[in-house]
Amino acid sequence: MARPLLPVPLLVLVLLAACSAAGEQTGPAHVDAAPPSKIAVVGAGIGGTSTAHFLRQHFGPEVQVDVFEKAEVGGRLATVTVNHNDYESGGSIIHSLNLHMQEFVKQLGLKYRRSVAGKTAVFNGEEMILEETDWYLLDLFRLWWRYGISFIRLQMWVEEIMEKFMRIYKYQAHGYAFSSVEELLDSLGGSGFINMTRRPLSDSLLELGVSQRFIDEVIGPIMRVNYGQNVSIPAFVGAVSLAGVQNNLWAVEGGNKLVCSGLLKLANANLLQAHVTSISPVLSGDALQYQLSFNTESGSGSDLYDIVVLATPLQDSVESGINLEGFTPPFDQLPGSYHRTVATVVHGYLNTSFFGFPDPRLFPFANVLTTDTPNLFFNSVASICPVNISTGFRRKQPQEAGIYKVFSLQSLDKARLKTLFRSYYSVQVTEWQAYPRYGSSQGLPSVELHTNLYYLNGIEWAGSAMEMSSVAAKNIALLAYHRWNRQTDMVDQKDLMHRIKTEL
Ligand SMILES: Cc1cc2nc3c(=O)[nH]c(=O)nc-3n(C[C@H](O)[C@H](O)[C@H](O)COP(=O)(O)OP(=O)(O)OC[C@H]3O[C@@H](n4cnc5c(N)ncnc54)[C@H](O)[C@@H]3O)c2cc1C
Ligand SMILES: *[C@@H]1O[C@H](CO)[C@@H](O)[C@H](O)[C@H]1NC(C)=O
Ligand SMILES: *[C@@H]1O[C@H](CO)[C@@H](O)[C@H](O)[C@H]1NC(C)=O
Ligand SMILES: *[C@@H]1O[C@H](CO)[C@@H](O)[C@H](O)[C@H]1NC(C)=O
Ligand SMILES: *[C@@H]1O[C@H](CO)[C@@H](O)[C@H](O)[C@H]1NC(C)=O
Repeated sequence: MARPLLPVPLLVLVLLAACSAAGEQTGPAHVDAAPPSKIAVVGAGIGGTSTAHFLRQHFGPEVQVDVFEKAEVGGRLATVTVNHNDYESGGSIIHSLNLHMQEFVKQLGLKYRRSVAGKTAVFNGEEMILEETDWYLLDLFRLWWRYGISFIRLQMWVEEIMEKFMRIYKYQAHGYAFSSVEELLDSLGGSGFINMTRRPLSDSLLELGVSQRFIDEVIGPIMRVNYGQNVSIPAFVGAVSLAGVQNNLWAVEGGNKLVCSGLLKLANANLLQAHVTSISPVLSGDALQYQLSFNTESGSGSDLYDIVVLATPLQDSVESGINLEGFTPPFDQLPGSYHRTVATVVHGYLNTSFFGFPDPRLFPFANVLTTDTPNLFFNSVASICPVNISTGFRRKQPQEAGIYKVFSLQSLDKARLKTLFRSYYSVQVTEWQAYPRYGSSQGLPSVELHTNLYYLNGIEWAGSAMEMSSVAAKNIALLAYHRWNRQTDMVDQKDLMHRIKTEL
């Protein structure tokens, strides 16, 4: 994601309101059911691995937790190696108020990697229409002059949404769970939040009094770099995306995917390198279990589980290859598809002429965002830092060979690479089924697919980010626990703000 374009100070209040997330507590226990003996999690991305961790917390040390992964632990958190250094190719930026991610890093003894300062500009295909300077007050003044009060309105809007969203940490710390993404959003921000998952961002912003010009020149470029899409995406994910360009962003030293492998160990989970091909219900007496069939390098197998969590997108376009068989009624194919984003990591010399700077020494930007312009073949270009930053690290100057990451919809052919780069040493391409292709009509998928069978990635249709998967993971672990122990008073409770104040 991008470095901050708007220097947005964060609300201290929000921080204060959220400090309670660390103290874990699982509601009143009136447990009578025998505990489950085996739980399966399919997918070892941040969603699956944090689910394993939270399941262990709630179900205790006895239960066997198996995590299936067909490819690499980390999923959409991954790195590529260039010139003996590793660089994030998928999810890269974490917000300072992403409290689950923070807590994981703390518990795992990992280190924060602060982002190295670098300036951002917006390119419209012909020229830079917005340039960040060294001087904060001057930037504020320029934004004010160019867009009027748009950006203050916007800042207040994002902060209000974040403040409400952060209630989730309190609810979860008190052990409350939700049976659907709608229930979860409703408890945080009422019908206003649910409506925000359905109406276009541009409509919400126009209604707020944000100018069309600000939407085109600032909001659009931010949506393009973060979600590869335009301002027609729903307002809720738009707000998630805007929170991602504030100050105080960080990443994990050594690579974000270290959180995933760390959580698997912390959870004492078994990692099975296997592709799960089908899941079907099996009744023995009145006990319902699930049979998972899977392929490994050495052949195929199957096993029975009491609880199953699917922590990978199930849409066709993602090709998880999981068949849900033998259910009545049968499952329909989930609507919607995932958006392709190509991440191209280039070691070379940026063609600053292309951006109107014939002399590379006069090109001061580390990040270039773009407006929605028909002929542009990329969404953003950024000079990127390795996942391990040594002391004394500095960004390369544009006249030197550096490492750049380009996001685009199509992969870049040679001609296009030659347009963006004067010359290059290496090119590494990662094609992601990156995040949902957001429309405003597909609705939010279910969390509970069947008794004791859960689906994590529906939350991405409200907003796709590491923290969103972590919030969903905690919710599913709590939900699975309460369902197993028939604690209905801990699920979908109304008026939680009030209840929590009166609970001691
Ligand atoms: C280019 C890009 C940039 C991004 N930038 C950011 C960012 O800056 N900040 C941020 O917070 N988020 C960002 N995101 C989003 C973030 O990466 C994702 O929301 C998050 O990583 C999703 O995690 P997950 O565990 O839910 O899913 P995934 O990471 O997709 O994990 C699913 C796992 O399941 C495995 N799997 C699938 N099917 C099977 C099967 N049948 N059997 C066994 N295993 C299976 C897959 O191999 C995969 O490892 C970005 C994403 C992309 C692609
Ligand atoms: C959300 O939409 C519903 C139905 O259109 C409407 O009744 C409700 O008032 C809206 N909520 C808010 C907070 O705007
Ligand atoms: C945004 O993109 C969608 C899908 O590509 C398209 O249908 C829509 O018209 C675009 N909206 C704007 C405001 O450009
Ligand atoms: C990068 O950082 C990780 C985590 O701190 C560490 O384990 C690893 O050894 C480091 N690698 C290098 C090459 O410094
Ligand atoms: C760089 O950009 C300029 C301006 O668009 C273009 O004329 C030139 O061909 C590009 N490539 C190189 C290698 O300079």
